[in-house]
Formats: sequence, structure tokens, C-alpha cells
Amino acid sequence: MKAITKNPFVVTGYIAPEYFCDREKETADLISNIRNGRNTALISERRMGKTGLIEHVFHQPEIEDNYYTFLIDIYHAGSLREFVFLLGKHIFETLKPRGQKFIDKFFATITSFRPAFKLDPLSGAPTFEISLGEIHHPEVSLEQIFQYLESANKRCVVAIDEFQQVAKFPEKKTEALLRSHIQHCRNTNFIYAGSIHHMMAEIFLSASRPFYQSVSMLHLNPIDKEKYVEFVMRFFTEARVSIPKYVVSDAYSLLEGHTWYMQRVFNEIYAQTSRGDSVNTGMIMRTISDLAKSYEPVYQNILINLSERQKEVLIAIAKDDSATEITSSAFINRHGLQSASSVQSAIKQLLAKEVVVRTKDGYRIPDLFFDIWLRMTYGAGFSIKEL
Ligand SMILES: Nc1ncnc2c1ncn2[C@@H]1O[C@H](COP(=O)(O)OP(=O)(O)OP(=O)(O)O)[C@@H](O)[C@H]1O
Ligand SMILES: [Mg+2]
Repeated sequence: MKAITKNPFVVTGYIAPEYFCDREKETADLISNIRNGRNTALISERRMGKTGLIEHVFHQPEIEDNYYTFLIDIYHAGSLREFVFLLGKHIFETLKPRGQKFIDKFFATITSFRPAFKLDPLSGAPTFEISLGEIHHPEVSLEQIFQYLESANKRCVVAIDEFQQVAKFPEKKTEALLRSHIQHCRNTNFIYAGSIHHMMAEIFLSASRPFYQSVSMLHLNPIDKEKYVEFVMRFFTEARVSIPKYVVSDAYSLLEGHTWYMQRVFNEIYAQTSRGDSVNTGMIMRTISDLAKSYEPVYQNILINLSERQKEVLIAIAKDDSATEITSSAFINRHGLQSASSVQSAIKQLLAKEVVVRTKDGYRIPDLFFDIWLRMTYGAGFSIKEL
């Protein structure tokens, strides 16, 4: 029997299919999009599993064997220049192990990156080093990168994580520029992943924007309850720890099946238990509140940077079961808020800071532990009654 030496509840990155729960349909859809030459916009709330899904797809034999795959995260990129740098460097690093021929072709095609070619003084291995200032014409570099991808000896898939950042670049033409290259690509497909609903929606769904109607949309919802419960129970059973089905099910309800929170809580519980132990709902509740408390300094820091009005509205949203009509007199009276207009201006700021998000069901705090911490600190806490 294979001994499990590691905690099977992965909380950073992607390890292997065994530790990846479900997403069978989404995986098949994404592969089908790639196979059929379609580009995809992958959208979900934060930490629902977009990046994990892309990695999972890239590890499937059909994709691994037949495509060159690239995944870049542009969350911290502030300009087209940085975008071009990240993409160029990542392509170089990915193909470097394939040998000199690849390196030669890379710099022969992307001539504007030639100054980046250096040899590591110790190992003698080729490296990619260029300062942003040395990328004089990012548009030219971008065009050359596309030429390189299009001339590759296999099809390419480029996934751009946190794609909504492009809308914030000072170069307002970035979207149009990318779109004009991408629409001519025959050898390369794209996956655009992003979490800020309205920004991603505007990029792909508004008729005046360059990417309008250019993608298949894929929304990632919480993993199916039955499948998640089964996944969790499998690892505890293998470790000879008893955990009744309804306990896992309670945890799923409490955490709204939100992937990262489920992973984080069961990672903790797995770490705390050993052969012969049993897990009950009390232990789940304690673990959740301990985890929420462990982030207290982060949450206090967020609160320090909010005005009194913003704080009041935030706490009201945390305490309320249905924060849909937050400018209604019912909501205002329920939480002793000032006026509709003050709620209006507070919510604008909270949305801009991404402390609150708007979904089709109303306003919510996307960080579930923050939401729980606010309820523990300012409200009646959270309890199993909510289930
Ligand atoms: N299907 C899955 N099964 C098990 N763990 C998963 C699954 N999908 C994602 N995870 C884990 O959940 C966490 C969050 O996933 P991931 O980082 O992919 O989300 P994301 O939507 O890209 O988040 P962000 O919005 O912060 O970029 C990660 O630790 C990842 O390892
Ligand atoms: Mg991600």
C-alpha cells in the first residue's frame, strides 16, 4: 500500500490529479475549446480554483503531449511593457530545457529580446535578463512573440491569469492590440482567467470592447457537494481517521463549498489527527474560527484603512443574511445606518478596494474567513444553526 507522507489537502498550487477534486466537466470543456481552436474566458470568485483548473488541464496527456503550454500571472503587471516581459521570459524559461535549437530560434525571431540573452557566470547556463527599460518598443516585442508562437512546431496554449489587469494598463490600446494579434493566430489558443466579475464581464461582453464575443465563457462554481464530500472522506479513510459523512457535509455548507477554504480547513484537520482519531462538527467549527482568528492582524489592517461609514456598511453586510437591497430603508434601519446616500458612497469605496464584491445575489465579502471574523468580532458569531 502506498504510504501517504504528505498532507493530501493542497493549499498552494497544483501537485497531481489524485489531489485534485472533480472539475471533470470543466476540464473536458476546456480541452474541447483548445482542441477546436476556441479561446476561453475563465471566470470565478477568488480562490475557487481557476489557476488549479488550468494546471490540471495542462497536465492531461492530450494537452501535455501535443501542445506547448504557457501560464503567466499578470496580477502585478502594471503596463504593456511588463506584460511583454513576463510573457517573453516565461516562454524562454519553459522552452529552455529543450536545448540550444530552441534558444537560437527564440532570439532569432524575437530579435528585440536579444539583449536579454546572458550566460550564468557560474553554471554557464543561458538565462533571460533584461530590464524593463531595455524593452524599447513593447508593441514590436509583442508582435515578435506572436510570430514565434505561430511558427512553433506544435500548437501552443497561452493562459493569462488575472487577465482583467490589462484594463488597468496605462496603454489604453492594449486590449485592441492583443485582440488584433490574437484574431490572426492559427497555431495558438488563449485562456483568459480572472476573478473580478464586472471587469472580466466588461472586457468580454460589452459591444464596444475589442474582445467582445471572441471567447467561450466558462464560469467556475463551487465543486459539487457529493463529489467534495467523497474526496475529503477518501483521504481520512486511507489515514484510518473516522469522519462521518454529515460532518464533512456540515463543513461544506459552512464554507459554501468554496475550494480554498475547504482545502485550508481539511488541511488543518488532517494535520491535527492521526490513526484511530475521529472528527466531529465541533472540531470543524473550532478549526474554522481558529483559522479566521489567525488572520486577525490582516483584517485589523484592512479596518484601519476604512472610514467609519465604510466599516459600518461592511459589518452590516457581514451580519446580514441577504445583503441585496443595501440602500433600502429596511437594510438601513436593521443596521442603524445613516442614509441611502452614505451607504451608496461607502459601498463604492468598498467595491473599489475589493473588500466587498457584488454578485447576482447581492453584496458579499469574498474572503470567507474575514466574513466569519467580522461576525465573531462584531456580531453574534457564526454557528451551526446557519446550516
Ligand atoms: N479541484 C480542486 N481540488 C482540490 N484543490 C483545489 C482544486 N482547485 C483548486 N484547489 C486548491 O484551492 C486553492 C485555490 O485554487 P486556485 O488558486 O486555483 O484558485 P483561483 O481561482 O485561481 O484563485 P485566485 O482568484 O486567488 O487566483 C489552491 O490552494 C488550490 O490548490
Ligand atoms: Mg488564480
